[in-house]
Amino acid sequence: MSLLENIIKLKKEKKALILAHYYQRPEVQDIADYVGDSYYLSKIAKDSPEQIIVFCGVRFMAESAKILSPEKTILLPALDAGCPMADMADGEALLELKKEHPNAAVVCYINSTAEVKAHCDVSVTSSNAVKILRKLDKDEIIFLPDKNLGSYLAEQMPDKKFILWPGFCITHRKVNPSHILDIKRIKPEALALAHPECEKEVRDISDFIGSTSEIIEYATNNSSRDFIIVTEQGVLHELKKRNPSKNFYTPGSTMTCVNMKKTTLEDVYECLLDLSNSIEVDEETRVGALNSLVNMHNYAR
Ligand code: 13P
Ligand code: SF4
Repeated sequence: MSLLENIIKLKKEKKALILAHYYQRPEVQDIADYVGDSYYLSKIAKDSPEQIIVFCGVRFMAESAKILSPEKTILLPALDAGCPMADMADGEALLELKKEHPNAAVVCYINSTAEVKAHCDVSVTSSNAVKILRKLDKDEIIFLPDKNLGSYLAEQMPDKKFILWPGFCITHRKVNPSHILDIKRIKPEALALAHPECEKEVRDISDFIGSTSEIIEYATNNSSRDFIIVTEQGVLHELKKRNPSKNFYTPGSTMTCVNMKKTTLEDVYECLLDLSNSIEVDEETRVGALNSLVNMHNYAR
């Protein structure tokens, strides 16, 4: 039996669900029951009846699923797949910042640790952040850890005062405006679609800003033929599947998140075989962090 057949057989035997983020390797996306952006996958993990979930992504995704569904077994196939940006914020420093801004709402990007979420009022993803923040009745917002998503949100809501944490995504930081302008010189009709984790200078010359799934939807529904994809290259797999006759260009050297690419089919097979790599969150932290994720799902509805 091939590796693929073995995974499918084990998945059936164990009644497991496989989820994959759009940044995962193409072959991992192809064996998943659901592929999507951070918010979509969080919703599926929370609402699905399966008690075993193989989360092909990075730690904060699997951790968030465990926080929302402690009774489920959440497996992270590559246990060392973290998110460097999530690790740029820590609970203790956040508590100090909260003391300086006692009236601010505290909002974290879902790309944060359980410890940080435990000190926040609500979590957001790039696809629901604007909707959620507009519903908050506070004029002052502490946003962490991504200063780029934070400054993008501040631009959308000039009536609110944002206090931004200085975190950033090392993958999206690699792009600079000249990479996009170089492609536009050769392909002037090409539309640049960028993730809000990109720096402001990159966002400012892009034609559309959105989450991974919003970028895929935009390119699919737009009549243009040429697109510059300014986010992690994993999204190209779904983009090409849905749009075989369109052209997708990547800025500079290809944008790759090494952590997202750690998960292999072998890892998926091995963790399904013996239900290894189960994510645990200590109960006190989990209960503290639960509120911010429950609020995200309620506000985003
Ligand atoms: P989205 O899939 O929500 O756009 O997030 C991108 C990301 O960086 C996940 O780590
Ligand atoms: Fe973290 Fe950036 Fe990788 Fe997303 S792409 S997991 S934000 S390092």
